[in-house]
Amino acid sequence: MQYKQAVVPWDIGEPQQAVVALENAGAFSGDVLDAGCGVGDNAVYLAGRGYRVTGFDYAATALRQAEQRADALGFDVEFVQSDAMRLDNLPQKFDTVLDSGLYHSLARQQRAEYAAALPKVCRPNALLHLLCFSDEVQDEFPDPHGIGEAELRNTFTGTAWRLAELHRDTYVTAFTREYVEKQAGEQFPRLDTRTLTFDTAGRLTRPIWRLAAVRL
Ligand SMILES: C[S@@+](CC[C@H](N)C(=O)[O-])C[C@H]1O[C@@H](n2cnc3c(N)ncnc32)[C@H](O)[C@@H]1O
Repeated sequence: MQYKQAVVPWDIGEPQQAVVALENAGAFSGDVLDAGCGVGDNAVYLAGRGYRVTGFDYAATALRQAEQRADALGFDVEFVQSDAMRLDNLPQKFDTVLDSGLYHSLARQQRAEYAAALPKVCRPNALLHLLCFSDEVQDEFPDPHGIGEAELRNTFTGTAWRLAELHRDTYVTAFTREYVEKQAGEQFPRLDTRTLTFDTAGRLTRPIWRLAAVRL
């Protein structure tokens, strides 16, 4: 996959606020895996906080950018090209997994395969922190991938996972109000931009689930 869009929706040039808040709350430990790391800002941030971090993504372009960002800040992060449904090429097992926006990028069947593959790269009692668009997203901008609460409870409860926490939170995107309004006019005529929320820096925010699950 090539990132050819003028604005890469998740490239905000800094870690997600929800990730920073989790780290401040002591939610990370040991060896950390950033699943679907994209251009790497969460992984690089966590490396800067002292964790040994591996990031994977299937997009080679994203991984190259992630490597450049880690190098620019002098942090050692291992970036691996891998498909979320086949994690057998990851170099080790992990104590904490961050998924910031990967799960909701997958189709339903892929989400089930990913949730089944992930425990195999987790140590016992590893913690998964997952941030995904929630079904509170009622519009189609930028795309309709909101996940329902029932699916998350079902997927992360069972023999492999124990659901520990499920909260509502927000994900910051790279879209400005000006960009969204232009796009709405050109491509999303049904989008009512008055219903959208923006952070203090003027970036579109989207409602997400913040889930924590323990690998059994
Ligand atoms: C919404 S972006 C989030 C990127 C990053 N985690 C962040 O929060 O900035 C989702 C990422 O998942 C990656 N991705 C999507 N499907 C994937 C798959 N099947 N295997 C690996 N990565 C995938 C995309 O290339 C993209 O970088």
